[in-house]
Amino acid sequence: MSNIIWLMTLLALTAVLVWSGTRAWRLKKSVLKWGGLGATALLAAATFSVSVLVASGLVKLHMRSAPVQNVKVAGTAEQIERGRAISDSFCGACHSKTGTLTGGMDVGKELPIYLGAFVSANLTPTGRVSHWSDGDIFRAIRNGVDADGHWLMMMSYTSASRLSDEDTQALIAYIRSRPPAGGEIADPPDQLNLLGLAMLGAGLLPSGKPIVTGVNFAPPKGPTARYGEYILSYQDCRECHGPQLTGGVPGQLGPIGPDLNIVKDWTRDAFVKTLRTGIDPGGHVLSERMPWRPIGKMDDEDLTAVFEYLIHMPGSQTTATN
Ligand code: HEC
Ligand code: HEC
Repeated sequence: MSNIIWLMTLLALTAVLVWSGTRAWRLKKSVLKWGGLGATALLAAATFSVSVLVASGLVKLHMRSAPVQNVKVAGTAEQIERGRAISDSFCGACHSKTGTLTGGMDVGKELPIYLGAFVSANLTPTGRVSHWSDGDIFRAIRNGVDADGHWLMMMSYTSASRLSDEDTQALIAYIRSRPPAGGEIADPPDQLNLLGLAMLGAGLLPSGKPIVTGVNFAPPKGPTARYGEYILSYQDCRECHGPQLTGGVPGQLGPIGPDLNIVKDWTRDAFVKTLRTGIDPGGHVLSERMPWRPIGKMDDEDLTAVFEYLIHMPGSQTTATN
């Protein structure tokens, strides 16, 4: 709500500036008159433009919408186990920093500029999901919209929308199986600051992954390039390593990761070892900006699938021209 107060302050400031301008207009001395008028007009135009951007940012925050899926998750032991595996290797990077699925990590601090707090939700029964239906949680994972219909910005920036319906249900089963833990998170969890709102209003922030309304399928799980392709569709490798995995580009939201064609020179065992230990075959210790700890929690089969996909993908431009 503090942003509404900021917006009112900016508009009030604009009004005061316009009023000062009219006072300057009445002055007799022409230097003071025109100088005063020019200065107040410029400032009023500036505060007014910022107000317009902030206001349109506030409007955009409420623009994302997606239908609630009609699902009821059985919660079998098999589903819970599958959900745990995906959560540990993916969701946990943001949701399990303080404890298993207890949330509380401000993802905003990882962005190149601070645009406000984006605190990962507590997904245990201590968090708000305990009051949500299975369909509400499904929509949050699939389309980044919460039970009240608000945009979950960070969720909409992840590739979680690509998870199959079956895997999304498995995640819900796992979330439902967790005991209460951790603390409460502010509601709503996204608290954009004035800069964030103005940038959103100016169209400088991504509007999130497209809404998916159909059914998502996954290929059969196995150590194949095809299954690796599926894993890479929902894992956020491309958010950091670039759309073609040939390296991130300046200006992207995520940290810049290197060209993954390097993996073509590695053996499968060296690849698996790199993601399990955080040390690559050259002895280089990977920084924490590379989420190797969660990714390395994939089982051998999944890591092999990712490896198979990477060594069979088309080469980078540099290798192609050599
Ligand atoms: C890049 C970090 C990141 C990843 C990865 C991520 N989340 Fe989130 N999640 C967030 C943040 C931050 C929020 C708070 C709202 C927002 O900004 O999206 C959130 C909110 C949610 C919510 C809404 C709950 C509430 O109380 O508001 C659900 C459900 C959720 N995440 C589930 C998942 C699941 C399941 C996965 C894995 C498939 C996942 N998230 C992966 C960062 C992440
Ligand atoms: C949040 C951003 C981010 C995500 C998501 C991410 N990476 Fe990375 N990755 C990095 C960064 C940054 C580095 C460089 C780390 C360093 O050198 O210290 C890196 C390094 C690597 C390396 C080591 C390269 C080398 O030469 O040593 C591999 C392999 C790798 N990533 C694979 C992956 C795969 C596969 C995925 C998806 C399953 C993934 N990454 C997801 C940011 C990311």
